[in-house]
Amino acid sequence: MEAVNISELVRGIYYIGVNDRTTTRFEGLWPLPAGVSYNSYLVNDEKVAVIDTVEVSSAMDYLTQIREIIGDKDVDYLVVNHMEPDHSGTIPFLLERYPSVKIVGNRQTISMIGGFYKITDSDRFLEIKDGDELSLGKKTLKFYLTPMVHWPETMMTYCKEDNLLFSGDAFGTFGALNGAVLDSAMGTDLHVKEMYRYYADIVGKYGAAVVRALSKLKDVEIKYICSTHGPVWHDRVSEVVGIVSRLANYEPEPGAVIVYGSMYGNTESAAEAVARELSKRGVKKIIMYNASYSDLSYMISDALRYEILVVGSPTYSMHLFPPVEQFMIAMETREIKNRVFATFGSHTWASAAVRKLDEYASRLKWEVASSFDFKQSMTEDTRKQAAQLAEEVVRLSKTLDKC
Ligand code: FEO
Repeated sequence: MEAVNISELVRGIYYIGVNDRTTTRFEGLWPLPAGVSYNSYLVNDEKVAVIDTVEVSSAMDYLTQIREIIGDKDVDYLVVNHMEPDHSGTIPFLLERYPSVKIVGNRQTISMIGGFYKITDSDRFLEIKDGDELSLGKKTLKFYLTPMVHWPETMMTYCKEDNLLFSGDAFGTFGALNGAVLDSAMGTDLHVKEMYRYYADIVGKYGAAVVRALSKLKDVEIKYICSTHGPVWHDRVSEVVGIVSRLANYEPEPGAVIVYGSMYGNTESAAEAVARELSKRGVKKIIMYNASYSDLSYMISDALRYEILVVGSPTYSMHLFPPVEQFMIAMETREIKNRVFATFGSHTWASAAVRKLDEYASRLKWEVASSFDFKQSMTEDTRKQAAQLAEEVVRLSKTLDKC
């Protein structure tokens, strides 16, 4: 077996990750049209440290890459920034190959390793606390505990001499790495776009924890961000920090997302009317999702990114139309803030959908800017209500250029 995915990032620090273009849904949920990478890193100093491992199906390739770099040397430390199995899955195999390796993690990490992999021997572990440092010889690793980004044990590891941050899932993206590893050596537009979706789908609920983590790192000089998914950021460090910071603070961009369900086209007609009225009022970025056919992953991502959210649903057995309900559950789960929200719905003999949408808004502490409901099919009045809805959300927008 050939070791193909090794890149030396700076002297003595290597990328040793793997690509996955086989899994169709990350976590069994989120589509991977361009694959995903599981990134791991190796510091080859007087002592050898591996930072995180990879998804277990690539264990053989992964161990070959380590051997290629260090030959007959031992791995002295395995730093575990994050325990989710896409990064921890190969720990048991690494321990089998290198039986004397010390696992470096915090109290939560050590507990999870016991739970997931039945590794409990205390001699195995070097427990660290926030701010602790570990010398590898010429290079020093410093540990920053960043809990709930997006699991309780998450932490980040900083190489002081090279200003290089091993950030775990933070700053991660979907999209495999097709040849290059450093952002400066590839076109990263796809990865930057996928960073929004990755954040919204995976981390979205934990904005406050991300803000705390960014604040903890604000005075740390960072020349390289080595995430566990996607490119190593070097040229675009400040840009990706800005993206994650805006998302974590729920700072929206100008634009409108219309999510709707429709059985026979009547609610869809109302969605079209709302879009047209928004456009007439100067909203240029309008994204429409028919919830029956659009993937939840993309709907969540744009709902987190843009300011105006309009949701429409037919009444279905006195509930929301199920795909719309699934979307609203995702909004509630992520506790999204700072939206201009409006609703519309249709019914045939009894109305419930708009009321149900308003109940979600109430739990999310969103004001409902405007809403309308119509019976069976649109009328001239419905058109006027769509225009009023558009007028009101544009009036309430803080991001649209309204001069
Ligand atoms: Fe990439 Fe949270 O695991």
